[in-house]
Formats: sequence, structure tokens, C-alpha cells
Amino acid sequence: MTLKVLFVCLGNICRSPTAEGVLRQRLQQRGLAGQVTVDSAGTEAWHRGKAPDQRSAAAAARRGYDLSPLRARQVHTDDFDTFDYVLAMDSDNLRNLQALQPPQARTRPQLFLQRFAQRFHCHDVPDPYYGGEQGFEQVLDLLEDACDGLLLELEQRLQEQP
Ligand code: 4NP
Repeated sequence: MTLKVLFVCLGNICRSPTAEGVLRQRLQQRGLAGQVTVDSAGTEAWHRGKAPDQRSAAAAARRGYDLSPLRARQVHTDDFDTFDYVLAMDSDNLRNLQALQPPQARTRPQLFLQRFAQRFHCHDVPDPYYGGEQGFEQVLDLLEDACDGLLLELEQRLQEQP
């Protein structure tokens, strides 16, 4: 079985590519990279084709995550059938995804932190784009926590149905 995870934020250059980089690395470390497909997208197309924001890439690199191969894309309606998890970074992203979702689509979008965070009890990953350096560190703290929670579920599902 292959599980497919899509992270979604507004621009796909800060939060969702960071989540993608964190989860990819954790899957690789556990030898699960071949069993879980990871991607990210933005609800807007503003940065389509661009590499992640340099501030996100630098903060991620300081913790050992490589975002350099990632390129932004916009979410599309097929994604709700392709992916097993469509995980929104904040409540605005979730509302936009719910508005975009075709009625018969397979996968309902969920708020990533609300569903999977373990140590942190907030629901939104704050948008770091217009803020300072600290915002990018906070994004990583939140995403590392929720990726650990997501990983537990993915491992369990893969064990149940290898
Ligand atoms: P992201 O952050 O949704 O985490 O990628 C943003 C990126 C770009 C913009 C806003 C948020 N922007 O206004 O261009």
C-alpha cells in the first residue's frame, strides 16, 4: 500500500513546503519513503514554479531539512481524489479547500495541527511571510510536532495493511 499526503498553505513557499521537507526526512529515516508519497500546494497560484522562500529554506536547513528540490504549485480539484490526506496549515486554507472540493471527492481536507499535533494545542500554523525570523522557527516547531503525530498514524496504517 502507498499512502499519499498533501500539505496545503496559501502560497506554497513557506509553511507547506516546510511540512513536506520535515515529513520526507522522517520517512527516509524510518525507511518508509517508498511507501508514502508527499507533496505540497498553495490555494493561490502567485508563486507557481518558484522555490521555497529563502527564509523558510534557511531555517529548515539549520535543522537538517533540504527544501531545495521543491517547487510551488496550486492545489487542484484532482488532489481530493489522488491524496489520502489533504492537510491545511490554517483555518483560511481549510475554508478555501472546502470551497474548492468537488462534492463527490474521496478525501476531506483537515486542519493539520488540530488533527495531528501532540505537544502544541493551537490549530493554525501562523503565516510567517510578513514577520521576522522567529516566525519561521515557530513554523518548524509546530510542523515537527504534527509530523511526528502524522507519522505514528502512517506507520500504524502501513503495519495494518503492508
Ligand atoms: P505560505 O506563506 O502560505 O506559508 O507559503 C505565504 C507566502 C506568500 C504570501 C503569503 C503567505 N504572499 O502574500 O505572497
